[in-house]
Formats: sequence, structure tokens, C-alpha cells
Amino acid sequence: MTHAIRVHQVGGPEVLRWDSIEVGAPGPGQVRLRHTAIGLNFIDTYHRSGLYPLPLPMIPGSEAAGVVEAVGEGVTELKPGDRVGYCSGPVGAYAEERLYPADRLVKLPDWLDERMAAAMLLQGMTARYLLRKTYPVRAGDTVLIHAAAGGVGLIACQWANALGATVIGTVSTPEKAELAKAHGCHHPILYTQEDFVARTRELTGGRGVEVVYDGVGKDTFMGSLDCLRSRGMMVTFGNASGPVPPMPPALLGQKGGLFLTRPSLGHYVASRDELLETATDLFGVVRDGRVKINVHQSFALKDAAEAHRALESRRTTGSTILLP
Ligand SMILES: NC(=O)c1ccc[n+]([C@@H]2O[C@H](COP(=O)([O-])OP(=O)(O)OC[C@H]3O[C@@H](n4cnc5c(N)ncnc54)[C@H](OP(=O)(O)O)[C@@H]3O)[C@@H](O)[C@H]2O)c1
Repeated sequence: MTHAIRVHQVGGPEVLRWDSIEVGAPGPGQVRLRHTAIGLNFIDTYHRSGLYPLPLPMIPGSEAAGVVEAVGEGVTELKPGDRVGYCSGPVGAYAEERLYPADRLVKLPDWLDERMAAAMLLQGMTARYLLRKTYPVRAGDTVLIHAAAGGVGLIACQWANALGATVIGTVSTPEKAELAKAHGCHHPILYTQEDFVARTRELTGGRGVEVVYDGVGKDTFMGSLDCLRSRGMMVTFGNASGPVPPMPPALLGQKGGLFLTRPSLGHYVASRDELLETATDLFGVVRDGRVKINVHQSFALKDAAEAHRALESRRTTGSTILLP
């Protein structure tokens, strides 16, 4: 027997229950993993609340790092004792142990410890596809990143800065503004106090930014469209404040022939080659120091409800991990 956090009915953080579970032996193509660190991500709260529905009961969690304990039939690239991490396969990371498809795992380089891996794989791979694939940032671009002091935000600010962009970022408090600034955000905007559209227009001499990366959703979506230059790219990739309501496509025309996309990490790491290319690029920028990973909060896995409360009440910065 081992333990996991399970959701039997959707709801608030109180539905996260510490249960005993059976894991069993790995089937063909699977490995059995012992987790040493688990990543906390906003998507975990959508699974828990039912915003993104999953069959119940379910174990939440999309990201973890750990050690291979056993391999199933046909698994040739991994062996017991290998250190691995993941962020793009079936949910179920809030567990001490679990089964996982071998072809969705990434081997961890020797220099990368498992806690840092759990803190960066999902948010770092997200920053990577947003900045390098969805709208490839070029030197000289000006980009707007919402929730700049968050998990994805702090990584994206550093990476966009390293690519040569001018980085504008929104944050809710002066402390978060300082933190974003220390991580490559040239112009933090306190969107709880200031009109972020007017300030972005002012910072760009009226022109607007090339791209907005918006993981906040409902509260910022319409304003984000007004921050873009003509033919700019609106990337809506999350709902921290709630889902974006329906919008007529004609609005994109009225606001300057804008492009709009709603991507997920899964769309960019669907093949094993894309997964490895993305991981290699991420490991590269972390190893050479262009992107520093911030494990700013850690909680015992048992206390996942506390971690969810902190994340949803905007009390976290950078990345958060859960320790089994
Ligand atoms: N599509 C994808 O592939 C993908 C992948 C990863 C993450 N995401 C999305 O990216 C966003 C960031 O994820 P994350 O895990 O890195 O979380 P996070 O940014 O660390 O936390 C969310 C942040 O959003 C801001 N926020 C604004 N309004 C909020 C509200 N009403 N309630 C709570 N937070 C609010 C807060 O920053 P301030 O206090 O500074 O406002 C908060 O710290 C989420 O929407 C997530 O779903 C999408």
C-alpha cells in the first residue's frame, strides 16, 4: 500500500483527501515510479474544481520527478534507479508512487536535482513553447506577460529577456513587482492599482506590443487585446481569474487584424521528438543560467489543500512543490 491525494467529488481544496492506494506492477510500456517531488500547477485547481472535468475518483497532478522502481514489458530506454521527470502524460502525480508511460518520461541530467525538476518541467516547457513556438520572440520585440511573478511568469520573463525582448509584466503587489524585475521584467505594472492597457500603450509610445501571453483569463482578456499592435498575437493560455467568455471573431478585425490562439502544452509536446526537443532547450537555458528556477514554496504532499489555497489566493510566487 502507498498513499495519494484523491478527489472523490469536485469542489474546493477540502475535497483533496489523503488515501491509501494500491499501485501494482507496471504493464507493457509502463514504469513504476517513486516520486521524490511533485510540481504544483494552476491546472491542478481546475481538475479539482471540475472546470476541466475528469472521471472520478481521480488523483490530481500533472508533474513530478522521481526514481524508476520497475519497468514493464517492452521498456528498453529506462531501468530501475534512473532519475526521471514528467509533465505531459496522464494526471495522477499527487501520489507517493504510480505507474506512468515510459515514452512520456524525460531522464534528468546529473546536475538537475529532482526538486528543481518538479518545479520547472511543466512551467518551463510551457514558457518554452509560448516564447519559441506559439509566437517566436525576436530581439527587439516588446512582450506583455501577465502574472509575471508566478510560476510560468518568472520563467517566461527571464527567457523573453534572454531572447532580447523588452518585457512588460503585470503583478498584484509591489513585492511581486520587485521579484519580477529581478527576473528580467523591465517594466512591472501593478494591474491591481494601475490601468495596464494605458501603461502598456505609454511604454510602447502608443504602438502596442507584438504579443501578449495571458494566463490570467477573464479579468485581463479584453484589456490584453487593447495592448497589441496592429496584427499582434494574443495568446490566451490560462484561466487563473476564470475562463474567458465567448467573443465574436469580428472583434479581432476591429482591434487591428489581430491573431488569437488558445494553446496547451500538450499541443506542443505531442510527439516524443517534440517532448525531448522542448526538454533539451529548457535544460540548456537553466544550466547556463539564463533562466533561474525559484522553488519559493514547498508543502508536504499530505497538505496539498493548503498549497491549493495559497495558489488560488495569490499568495505564492515562482514555483511550488509538494513533498511525499
Ligand atoms: N495552456 C498551457 O499550456 C498552460 C500551461 C501551464 C500553465 N498554464 C496557465 O498559466 C497560468 C499560470 O499558471 P501557474 O501554475 O504558473 O500559476 P501562477 O502564475 O503561479 O499563479 C497564478 C497567478 O495568477 C494571478 N492571478 C490573477 N488573477 C487571479 C485570480 N483571480 N486568482 C488567482 N490568481 C490570479 C496571480 O498573480 P498576481 O497576484 O500577480 O496577479 C497568481 O499568482 C494559469 O492560468 C495556468 O492555467 C497554462
